[in-house]
Amino acid sequence: MDALQLDTVRISDDKTCLEILDQTLLPNTIKVVKVSRLEDIWEAIRLLRVRGAPAIGVCAGYAIALAASQIDTDDPVRFCEEFLKQKAYLASARPTAVNLFWALDRMERTMRAHLDKPVSTVKEILFTEAQAIRDEDVSISRRIGELGFALLKHGDGILTHCNAGTLATAKYGTATAPIYIARERGWSDLRVYCDETRPLLQGARLTAFELHSAGIDTTLICDNMASITMKRGLIDIIFVGCDRVARNGDTANKIGTSGVAILAKHYGIPFYVCAPSSTIDMSLETGDQIPIEERPPEEVTEMWYAQRMAPEGIRVCNPAFDVTEHTLITGIITEKGLCRPPFDRAFAELGI
Ligand code: MRU
Repeated sequence: MDALQLDTVRISDDKTCLEILDQTLLPNTIKVVKVSRLEDIWEAIRLLRVRGAPAIGVCAGYAIALAASQIDTDDPVRFCEEFLKQKAYLASARPTAVNLFWALDRMERTMRAHLDKPVSTVKEILFTEAQAIRDEDVSISRRIGELGFALLKHGDGILTHCNAGTLATAKYGTATAPIYIARERGWSDLRVYCDETRPLLQGARLTAFELHSAGIDTTLICDNMASITMKRGLIDIIFVGCDRVARNGDTANKIGTSGVAILAKHYGIPFYVCAPSSTIDMSLETGDQIPIEERPPEEVTEMWYAQRMAPEGIRVCNPAFDVTEHTLITGIITEKGLCRPPFDRAFAELGI
């Protein structure tokens, strides 16, 4: 089994439900869940059955198209009102990945641009737009992969954090895309190190799973082993994904990413963020303005353990993301080009 063959999320052929690969069950069980009610799609995003910024965007596009198709009216004004209610509900599923809001806003613009047409036609157009978001995500990831591949040398050791892999996108991933491109070109001497990524283990359960299944030389390390792995000279380059990038290049990604970047600076290792341009939020001046999701304490105290591994009643802090300051980032690889500091100028030059 090659994880590149798995669909993270798709719309069923008869367009009545979403088929979501349930990532909470990986790597032990490969199961696709079918969801048609908006509440169940909201829950799938919230519980990380579908996760990773680009995949959340793709899911949101399909979800709002599906929900819109179920609105029972021919009146464009009522259709629009109902669409906006559903959009607001979906947007409340998770706060940090901007792709959720980006995809929903794009779907709203599409809806408004065609409101002079019969509602039944608008519904079809929304499905087409959602499919376009998905298809574009594949080509965007591939382009990021090609630009990232150009930074690699034979024999390189690559460190990645969390899962910015094919499972986090429609295909290829962002941080993993250079590795898949290298494999396509016949390179077999890259070594990848995956941080396990506490508390939800996206590195162990997802990145290690997908790269190992693709036959890539993959080593799993606990998050607190990144330092010694760098000190031993095993890491030549770091690729991570991102959930939202501010105008100055500050980058929110999975909790622990900023620590990796600080270590990378200490050991003089280049640290690259792989970012579809839809993840760059030019409305935010710095990373301080990025909302950070706080998740349930049980993810830290109980999840994955046979029995609870923290005292009852202990206070838990469980921020799901942190912000890596732009000064720690060597480059941000977007599908439009590789951005070097100062990032605000680089983004402007690429028309982002
Ligand atoms: O909480 P998650 O699993 O959705 O967090 C995912 C990440 O932090 C990824 O690195 C990010 O979304 C980029 S995915 C290409």
